[in-house]
Amino acid sequence: MNVLVIVESCFGNTAAIADAVAAGLRSAGAVATVSDAASAPPLASHDLVVIGAPTHNLGLPTPASRRQAVAHGGSAPATGVAEWLGGVGRLAIRVAAFDTAVPGAFSGSAAKKIATRARRLGATVSGRESFTVSGSPAVLTDGELDRARAWGASLAG
Ligand SMILES: Cc1cc2nc3c(=O)[nH]c(=O)nc-3n(C[C@H](O)[C@H](O)[C@H](O)COP(=O)(O)O)c2cc1C
Repeated sequence: MNVLVIVESCFGNTAAIADAVAAGLRSAGAVATVSDAASAPPLASHDLVVIGAPTHNLGLPTPASRRQAVAHGGSAPATGVAEWLGGVGRLAIRVAAFDTAVPGAFSGSAAKKIATRARRLGATVSGRESFTVSGSPAVLTDGELDRARAWGASLAG
């Protein structure tokens, strides 16, 4: 199974989750490559695309929210997952989506937006997960990397 993990991250947490998801996929026998959304290779013989982003303003990062992240000490790519989805064309492939977010009923979810947009592009969405961060600057909640590895392994099935 050949998997491309596409990620955007401003403070490193979503990128760390992407690496853990890829490690989980590999532990279950998949070949998994992690790429920033801004420099993702074209889809080729991939069986699954796993797409992840930090939750910004209840959804996907935008140029404005990335600037806010930079103002708070983060770094931000010029383009991210929203732009990747905007440019990929038809996505006739299996997709799984994840995000990082602050826990809470009103946090919103970038993964939910990714799943909706991927479905509209023709994808079969077979997994969606949120991983939690807390504090400022945000850090992953204890246990989230383990949970990401387990989720990644489950996607290889
Ligand atoms: C501009 C901005 C808006 C945010 N909006 C939300 C939000 O609506 N809901 C939420 O749970 N977290 C929100 N956050 C917190 C981010 O989800 C958190 O910084 C992110 O998960 C960290 O991931 P990263 O280290 O990969 O950038 C926001 C952060 C920024 C910078």
